Amino acid sequence: AAPGLADRLGRPLEDLRVSVVDRCNLRCRYCMPREVFDSTYTFLERRELLSFEEILRLVRVFARLGVRKVRLTGGEPLLRRGLPDLVSGLATVEGVEDLAMTSNGILLPRLAEPLKQAGLKRLTVSLDALDDATFRTMADTVQPVRAVLDGIAAAKAAGLPVKVNTVLRRGVNDHQIEAIAQWARTTGVTVRFIEFMDVGTTNGWVRDHVVPAAEVVERLNVRWPIEPVAPVGAGQVAERYRYLDGAGEVGVITSVTRPFCRTCTRARLSPAGELYTCLFAAVGRDLRTLLRDGACDEEIEGTIADAWAGRTDRASELRAEGGLPGPRVEMSYIGG
Ligand code: GTP
Ligand code: 5AD
Ligand code: SF4
Ligand code: SF4
Repeated sequence: AAPGLADRLGRPLEDLRVSVVDRCNLRCRYCMPREVFDSTYTFLERRELLSFEEILRLVRVFARLGVRKVRLTGGEPLLRRGLPDLVSGLATVEGVEDLAMTSNGILLPRLAEPLKQAGLKRLTVSLDALDDATFRTMADTVQPVRAVLDGIAAAKAAGLPVKVNTVLRRGVNDHQIEAIAQWARTTGVTVRFIEFMDVGTTNGWVRDHVVPAAEVVERLNVRWPIEPVAPVGAGQVAERYRYLDGAGEVGVITSVTRPFCRTCTRARLSPAGELYTCLFAAVGRDLRTLLRDGACDEEIEGTIADAWAGRTDRASELRAEGGLPGPRVEMSYIGG
């Protein structure tokens, strides 16, 4: 182990997001615009994806370096065949205390139960609207909202705690804030409203389309008074609020208006086995070649530790200070 591994800004490595596939069964405009992610787009081929054995081996090494939280993402992670098998492997990794997943929920009716059985601890499901018209505009799909709600219900029935992520786009789904909050209050899930980010380079981000979290908090507070909840531990992404009437919590994720790079303890592993130390990085460090060339665990550990020790990423702060530099990886590749 490497107690005290910290990056150049003093941030420990605590959290690993593992993207298991770069494909998705939706085409959210803010993430995978259909005109870019169409039949001409080059997705990873099967042999390029890390195998479950390779992922497990890397996660064990990350755990030795301090990772305590693992989150599976994509793309849509449920499109990866046999995913519950990966989960059962991850559930046994020493040091990993939290095992979560981010999904669009569509395939949960089939998979919630096996995932729970395999040892998944909790789920975050994306839900951007409660009416079909707005949902279909956001996700560029013919699916009804019902498909996601059924997935959430299946997860709850399987005993998995569910949170909901709502990305807001000005003029598209911001009229849904109260409706989604109301639904969440009565359903007993925590919703987090997320500022639309300029991840990747294809989603047509403009600042005017961002709904500032302060505005969301203000609107919620008018309807149902809320108060801030003190953060538990460092590295927390969402700012939490509690409804004074006891109907649970709601959160906002303020990457644009109040960047949280200072406390960013997250590493990301791409489906092809590259280590990214920031959501806005242009390239990752290739760990797959090391694996496939027969490197030993110590060598891999050294490579990851070096990458983390040299880390200076703070992209969201740089954006706030004047702009993000150059090319960057797509969210559908590196995970939410
Ligand atoms: P919990 O462990 O349940 O609290 O999850 P979380 O707060 O880490 O939230 P989640 O993983 O669901 O992330 C929510 C959203 O926050 C993501 O989908 C991204 O939009 C955004 N996000 C998460 N991590 C980062 C990050 O490191 N940088 C930036 N800029 N945004 C992030
Ligand atoms: N801005 C903010 N969040 C995004 N996500 C994907 N693209 C963006 C973006 N441009 C997040 C959403 C979704 C998760 C998979 O990724 O939270 O729920
Ligand atoms: Fe798919 Fe999630 Fe991206 Fe939407 S946000 S296109 S559901 S990966
Ligand atoms: Fe971390 Fe990069 Fe997000 Fe900042 S922009 S919080 S450094 S992932």
